[in-house]
Amino acid sequence: MKIAVGADHAGWKEKKWLVEHLRRLRHEVTDFGTDSEEPCDYADYAVMVAHAVSDGRCQRGLLVCGTGLGMSMAANKIKGVRAAACQSVDAARYSRTHNDANVLCVGSRLTSSQTIREMVDVWLASTVEGGRHQQRVDKINKLDESRRC
Ligand code: RB5
Repeated sequence: MKIAVGADHAGWKEKKWLVEHLRRLRHEVTDFGTDSEEPCDYADYAVMVAHAVSDGRCQRGLLVCGTGLGMSMAANKIKGVRAAACQSVDAARYSRTHNDANVLCVGSRLTSSQTIREMVDVWLASTVEGGRHQQRVDKINKLDESRRC
């Protein structure tokens, strides 16, 4: 799978090993940075990853900041992106099976590395259930029509 990955200064360490993990699993990873503790703005990285998913360069996106919250808020501004900020393996699974999330946002300050790894693995392996959930996702997608970007 082609996966876009990004982080801010609070998430770059997690991102580093996540990129290695994903490449070991033979995913094609595009790493948008950041790569140091130098303070930066999470929205800049969220938007790069979200655009890669939105325009089809990547099928999925993975974002890491301190909480996952700012990343998800920014990513969800981009057309076609359904970003889910998750703090548990169950939430990550449901974000795929029910919500067809194409971007996963995690928080290095709220979730342990082990749980993040499990969340990412489960999220990548889970498939969309469709059925009654699809009409709800369709309604989310329709909201893009009222957006300007
Ligand atoms: C950075 O200090 C922190 O605010 C950021 O990583 C993130 O948690 C924002 O949602």
